[in-house]
Amino acid sequence: MPLSEDEQRILDEIERSFYKHDPAFARNVSTATLTRQGLEEYVSDCVIFLDHRVTDQISTRRLRVVKYRGSSHGTNEYPFLIDRRGIAVLPVTSLQLMHRTTSARVPTGLDWLDDMFGGQGYFRGSSVLFSGGAGTAKTTLAAYFLDAACRRGERAICFQFEESPPQYARNMRSVGLKLDHWVRKGLLRIHAARPTLYGLEFHLATMHREVDEAAPSVVVVDPLSSFIGASFDEVNSMVMRLIDYLKGKNITALFTHLTPGSGGSQEVEVGVSSLIDTWILLRNSPPGEHGGRHLSILKSRGMSHSSDRRAFELTDKGPVLLPPGRTLQAIRGVRA
Ligand SMILES: Nc1ncnc2c1ncn2[C@@H]1O[C@H](COP(=O)(O)OP(=O)(O)OP(=O)(O)O)[C@@H](O)[C@H]1O
Ligand SMILES: [Mg+2]
Repeated sequence: MPLSEDEQRILDEIERSFYKHDPAFARNVSTATLTRQGLEEYVSDCVIFLDHRVTDQISTRRLRVVKYRGSSHGTNEYPFLIDRRGIAVLPVTSLQLMHRTTSARVPTGLDWLDDMFGGQGYFRGSSVLFSGGAGTAKTTLAAYFLDAACRRGERAICFQFEESPPQYARNMRSVGLKLDHWVRKGLLRIHAARPTLYGLEFHLATMHREVDEAAPSVVVVDPLSSFIGASFDEVNSMVMRLIDYLKGKNITALFTHLTPGSGGSQEVEVGVSSLIDTWILLRNSPPGEHGGRHLSILKSRGMSHSSDRRAFELTDKGPVLLPPGRTLQAIRGVRA
């Protein structure tokens, strides 16, 4: 905004007086580039620097408090966004690891999976990762977790980065879930967006908004791997900030991650794994075996859990655990 004549005159006077009393300081000020006049920041009590940067054709607004006399303030650059609901500023990261902790558990949505965690499921407020190859039932298992929350009358949000809400609801109907029922009841929100639509900051800000509005007890992000265009560090930082935020609200967060190849290798590095409390690996059965998928718990901080590899099969009634060494076809054959 241009300065008024009066403001300009006052600034000129201040500048002249600086030159008279302290020429070195005045020269210093006049070469500063933060502001147009090179002077405003010295006479103001609070200076906030606004920036609008474009990286890979995606723009992000950021602000930084340069100074605020008489007060301590954050010194980082904070991303912010402006949308129809106003301005939202995102914390870069929580300053300390001070999340409240509870020993309460939250069911996984499947009895046999609960049993693998001693019959009780995940810790409430923890972060869970399902990683595996294509078609290993990541989305299905995450949807069972959402469905269980809605059955208990709790609110849930699914951030879908691969399927549109109707497509997601239709696909989950095939494995026995009626997600649209929960959407109609107002218990489930499905927020779908292409990962490339905005920058990570904007996605993060949108997630904050949705979580603030819906106050869910569980959140699913499906899948994290869709942010493939962003650098490893950026995704890592986004997940850390999201986890920090959700833990602060005691919300259980479940992420899915598509690992390259068959997803069979335990060595597959999932960058965010150190931020995750419970990590579950999924894999398809090796070629030649009758269908089926395998699941194992790689880690679950703070609890004892099964370390067996369990075989399960997807059916139109949901994921069914297979007894060791048996395929669904074999079981059906026995029953027939
Ligand atoms: N009624 C059903 N009976 C048996 N299998 C089914 C049924 N419905 C879906 N499936 C299987 O579920 C698979 C998809 O599961 P899901 O979407 O949970 O996997 P995903 O790991 O999320 O896959 P992606 O990597 O594509 O995201 C399908 O490829 C299909 O093989
Ligand atoms: Mg999926």
